[in-house]
Order: sequence, then structure tokens, then C-alpha cells
Amino acid sequence: MSNAGAYYITTPIYYVNDRPHIGHCYTTVLADVAARFHRLMGREVFFLTGTDEHADKVVTSAAEHGVSPQAWADRNAAAFKEAFAFLGCTNDDFIRTTEARHREKVSAYISRLIESGAVYKGEYTGWYDAGQEEYVTDTAAREADYKSTVNGKALIKRTEPCYFFRLSRYQGKLRALIEERPEFIRPDARRQEVLGRLRPPAELHDVPISRPVTDDPATQWGIRIPGDDAHRVYVWIDALFNYLSVVDTSERRKFWPATVHLIGKDILWFHAVIWPAVLLALGEPLPRTVFGHGWWIAEGQKMSKSLGNFIDLEKVRAYASRYSLDALRWFLSTQGPLTGNDADFGHAKFVETYNADLANGIGNCASRVANMIDKYFGGAAPDAQGVTALAGHDWPRIVGELTTGADGAAHLASRFDLHGALRSGVELVRKIDGYINTTAPFKLAKHADDDPLKKRELAVILYHCAEAIRIAAYLFWPAMPWKMDELLTRWGCPTGTQAVQRGLTLADLAAWAGEHGLKAGAPISKGEAGAGGLFNRADAAEVPPGT
Ligand code: MSP
Repeated sequence: MSNAGAYYITTPIYYVNDRPHIGHCYTTVLADVAARFHRLMGREVFFLTGTDEHADKVVTSAAEHGVSPQAWADRNAAAFKEAFAFLGCTNDDFIRTTEARHREKVSAYISRLIESGAVYKGEYTGWYDAGQEEYVTDTAAREADYKSTVNGKALIKRTEPCYFFRLSRYQGKLRALIEERPEFIRPDARRQEVLGRLRPPAELHDVPISRPVTDDPATQWGIRIPGDDAHRVYVWIDALFNYLSVVDTSERRKFWPATVHLIGKDILWFHAVIWPAVLLALGEPLPRTVFGHGWWIAEGQKMSKSLGNFIDLEKVRAYASRYSLDALRWFLSTQGPLTGNDADFGHAKFVETYNADLANGIGNCASRVANMIDKYFGGAAPDAQGVTALAGHDWPRIVGELTTGADGAAHLASRFDLHGALRSGVELVRKIDGYINTTAPFKLAKHADDDPLKKRELAVILYHCAEAIRIAAYLFWPAMPWKMDELLTRWGCPTGTQAVQRGLTLADLAAWAGEHGLKAGAPISKGEAGAGGLFNRADAAEVPPGT
């Protein structure tokens, strides 16, 4: 049964022969931001990440480390789990493809495909890239001078009995589908890329989905083809099934089809062509969106093993410990390669974003307002009620301006425009700052003691500012849950975490001076003495953390 309120978001499952780095962290944090946004919007969310464990590379690196493939997978899967927990990711499950619940489902799916004729046994001859564990098409092999485009090593010509998936059958159907559903592959440049490869004269061929099992232990790692122990399921097919296997239970079926498969652009073909075709063959509904983001580079250079310039977990941790985990998540989710070009993880850019959006943005704005309320109203939220007209102010217009953010943010988040959604918070803060500058409450305060009208005007202005900051905090919350919960606690309002637990939605929370709004007289805290603002200014000249 489908559930219109369900929101199912997935990340790629990561190879366990590698340690987590900025790229893996990015995709998973981004999915977390989307998951948190949707929980706050009242959707029933299921957020899945995990590890892809049946690659041949796992056997090789396990041997290099003198441990069994399973032990090696256990160790590295734990490192991924730990990394995502550290980053505050609220995934609802973590799938490992070596788990029985996944393996059993994969066998069942393959059996179904064999029974329906979508998978058949044949013979495959082709150019094999051993490092990538994938066959390269004849054209691609020729163009690359029969060398791997990834590691430059010679491609190997191989012939082997093999199970094929009838991909050729789905070319027209896929093309029509992608043409009819612009949201199916995003961003649009990625969609055009795929369409270009589906339009004649381009031709889809059937694809091998098995690898032979021999005496070599390296070939024994993986899920067997049901009924034929001499073959195992190709790691990519095994891996793609995770998205379905995890929710293919009576309680979780409502989450299928996935709302968003968030991936990097490197694995677009598997997700936008092969996976949908397999789903069509199984008679399963298709995901709503496959979103392929770009790549992070480091200080202007492509990250690579040979250059040794990967932004690894240690560096990620160092940034979080220096600037806060919230700030790190903010940088990743607002400055990352969501669409279009690759993004640079550069220290100067990090500090610039941190200062502009956080220290001089929401941090400074909140502390300015809390300080004024402390100084002029003894730390209690002023009373703005009953003020209909005061000379020189158009209150309904001002309130209207300060409340536009939440609807817009929810709409953008549901379109997976996470940059736009998070920008809504920044824009709201900018409006509050502008409002403070034009109304100059600090000047009004000088006359407030002798002039009751000015005192009331001051009360209304500061109430507006504090109320708008409260709303902004919820807009920032999906990216920066701890700092925003701290701010909302200072304001005496439900934190984002509590709101989600209590089932309050962004629409409820963003209602101006509504049930969950700031109450006149409620204490507003400046925060612990000495702890200062939420984000203290940083100096771009300081040494980058983790160096
Ligand atoms: N195991 C496959 C995916 C199977 S999904 C059914 C795989 N794993 S991976 O460990 O190589 O991770 C690939 C993903 O990591 C990319 O698609 C992307 O999401 C992320 N990134 C890895 N490096 C990256 C960057 N430099 N920048 C951004 N993200 C990148 O492929």
C-alpha cells in the first residue's frame, strides 16, 4: 500500500574496502538534512544508508591485512557507522549487504527474474577493468587505448559463461519514462546525459549480472545465483537491491517506491538506467527521483589516492571540533556540489561561509536581540499585543515579511532544493538585521524610560525580532540541530528535536505568535555567562584544523 505521507531517502551504500572520507560524509549528511526537513514537515520518513560488502576488492584488501573478508568488512562497516553517528546522521537503518536479511531477498529477486526470462544464461566476452570490477564496452575500451580510465592498467579480454539481464528490452520504455517525468533524474544536466545515451543510434545491450565462482577464494565472495553455485551475483546488482530489500517487509512496504535515491554523479548509469530496468522487470514501482550530485575537490585539486589529498575523517573531525559539528554540516550542505559544478573544500571558503552565515549571521543576530531584551526588558520577552498602530510603522507588512520563510523553505526542501531551503533561514536573518538597522531599537531605548509610547514601540520591535529568530531557528535546524536546539532552549521554545518527537510541524511552529510562538513575559536567555554567542568569529589566517 502506498502512503502519500511517506518519504524514503537513500544514500549509496559504501564500499568497505575504503575508509570513510568527505565524499561519503557529504552524501550522508545531505540525506540527513533532507530527512530532518521532512520529519519537521510532518512526513513519515525512512532514511537508509549502509555498506556494500561483496566487492572483490574487499577480499584483496582483507588478504593484505591478514584477516578474513568478513572480518575486514565488519571492521570497516563499523568505521562507516561510527562516522555517520559522529556526524549526527539520523538514518533509520544501516544495511550491510552481507546480512542474511539482504542476501535472502537478493536470491528471491534473482529467482523471480530468471523465472520471468528477464535474466538468462549466456556467454560473455569483453574488456574487463579489474580495478573497477567492471566490463568496459568495446567502444570505451578502444577510446581508452585498452587501458583503465581510472588506474591506467591494461584491460583484460575475458570470455565466461554468464547470466545476463535483458536490459535491451527496456530502452524505449526507459527513454519514454525519463522524457515524461522530468523529476525522475535530477539535476536536468544529468537527465540529458542519460537521455543522450538512450536515444538512437545509441543502443542498449543486455548486461552481465553474474561472475564465475572458481577455486580462487576471491571468486567465492558474494551471493550465489540461485540454483547455480558456479556463479555469484555481480556486486553492483547485489548492491542496488539494498534499496528494496530493506523495506520489503510488511511494516516497511509503505515506504516503497523510494522518494529520492541520492547518489554521486559517478554512479548515475547504474541508478538511472540499470536499476529502474530491473525494477520494471520485477514489476515494482519506480523511485520518484534519482538525484546525482557533483564532486568535492580539495583546495582546488581533484582528490586522489596518489596525491594523498583526500579529506579524510580525521580532517572532518578536526573541522567539527574547531568550528562545531553544526558549522561543518552547514558548510557541507550549503556549499557542496549539489548541482552543476564540483565544489572546493577550501579553508578560506570554509571560514568565509562560517563568518558570513553563522558568526555574523544567525549567531550575532540572536545575541544582539537577546542582549537588548536583557537590558531593556530584564530578559523577559516583551509584550507586542494590542499594538495596532504606532506612528511610522506598518506592522502587518513587517510581520508579513518576517513570516514568508517557512512555506518557501518547505516547498524548496520537498523539491530537493536544499541550498534554497537552507538559504531561507539566511534570508530571514538578513531581514531581521535590516529591520534592526532601520528601526534602531538601541536609539529608541535611550528615550524609552521617559516616553511610554517609545517603550511600547521598542517592545513591539524586539518581540518581532525574537519571534522571527525563533522561526529562523527551525529553518536552520535540519542542518544545525544542536546549535539551533540550544538557541530554542534559550528562547524557551520547543527545540526542533522535541518538535519532531511531539509531531509538531514546521507549519505549526512557524505560525506567527501562535500556540508555539514566543509568549510575552517568557524568559529569554543570553546563554551561559562566558559561553558567548552560538558561533564566535573565526580568523581566516589561522592554521587550518587537522594540518
Ligand atoms: N558501492 C558503490 C555504490 C553502490 S550503491 C547501490 C560505490 N561506493 S563508494 O564507496 O565508492 O561511494 C560512492 C559514493 O560516495 C558516490 O556516489 C558519492 O555519493 C560519494 N563520493 C565519493 N567521493 C566523492 C567526492 N569526492 N565528492 C562527493 N561525493 C563523492 O560507488
